[in-house]
Amino acid sequence: MTRKPIQVTEPFLPPFEEYVDYLKGIWERNWLTNQGPLVKELEEKLRCYHNLSSPVYCVANGTLGLQIALKALGVRGEIVTTPFSYVATTSCPLWEGCKVNFADIESNTLTIDPEAVEAGITPQTEAILATHVFGNPCDVEALDAIAAKHGLAVVYDAAHAFGVTYGGRSLLEYGDASMVSLHATKLMHSVEGGFVFAKDPRILKKMEWMRRFGHKGPKEFFGVAINAKLSEFHAAMGLCTLNHADLILKKRKAICDIYDQLLLGDREEAAFSVDRISDTRYQLCPIIYRATASRNYAYYPVIFESENKLLSAMRQLEGKGIFTRRYFHPALDLVHELTGKRKPCPISKNISKRILCLPLSSSIDQCEIDRICLEIKNIQGI
Ligand SMILES: Cc1ncc(COP(=O)(O)O)c(C=O)c1O
Repeated sequence: MTRKPIQVTEPFLPPFEEYVDYLKGIWERNWLTNQGPLVKELEEKLRCYHNLSSPVYCVANGTLGLQIALKALGVRGEIVTTPFSYVATTSCPLWEGCKVNFADIESNTLTIDPEAVEAGITPQTEAILATHVFGNPCDVEALDAIAAKHGLAVVYDAAHAFGVTYGGRSLLEYGDASMVSLHATKLMHSVEGGFVFAKDPRILKKMEWMRRFGHKGPKEFFGVAINAKLSEFHAAMGLCTLNHADLILKKRKAICDIYDQLLLGDREEAAFSVDRISDTRYQLCPIIYRATASRNYAYYPVIFESENKLLSAMRQLEGKGIFTRRYFHPALDLVHELTGKRKPCPISKNISKRILCLPLSSSIDQCEIDRICLEIKNIQGI
């Protein structure tokens, strides 16, 4: 009997009838897009879910959300950003004509290192663009302090950070603007989609009109803008998914707990650093989540001793029908052909070669998780 392959991620699909119920409403209203009632309902529910006092605004995808955030903040010149993220983090500012300087990451949290950020600031720097990698918050206090000292904007790529709190507050309340992705691969999704948030009402308002051509009225415009509207069909999926948020999180947490137990065993001290990996008896080290942050179980990354060991493990698992993904490889400073002198980012380069995300989705059942764990234990040569 051939066994069903286990993918690194599988989108959550709500019970079909629940989606159909929303579709019936769309048919009755014949209102398909342009800030329809389902988009408004989703925005309000997302605001409540994140316990925010100001609105969030939905966009067609996270990438456009990031571009809109940069535009609303008037960032045009140089930015300092992380090399350890998805390609959209750097393609957005580059697409907007910004110059990108990379700052290396912290070896234990994998988020941008504030010291490296400060070292990367030049007289032309206008903003810091940082990613809450795998839902793990950046060192937001340190980045805020650096931004205040140098008069910079802070934009967070919070694509992975749905629902994360830090110090008891929504992580979205940090920095000048944040974008969360609602792509189908994310733990909460609207097929394609995302939303943006800013504390400053002026920036928030700008982001609101920037996603819908800048309309002030039928013939009047706030300014030049783009089309980043979320459709009612996408909002319907977002609402269906959000209705199952508790269950999705519970299932993902249960899988992460099993992985933790398998990989960490009785290890008492969770902290590790790149230099220490080789002298720990554990070959696979999950990353360290920042204290006072809540976890959303968006990804389960493990770090191997070497790239060869990662490739061997990946191949062996694939042979058993278990698919993992190299998130994020290669590091972004090695992806983009950039002009000018660049500071090397050795930690990100090193980690990106050795990090692998294990299968994680709310549709993985107990049988499958047992199978994954067994095959991980059986991996030879690591
Ligand atoms: C870190 C990061 N930034 C940005 C994006 C882009 O988001 P979207 O796919 O919604 O455009 C992603 C998406 O996968 C991501 O992982």
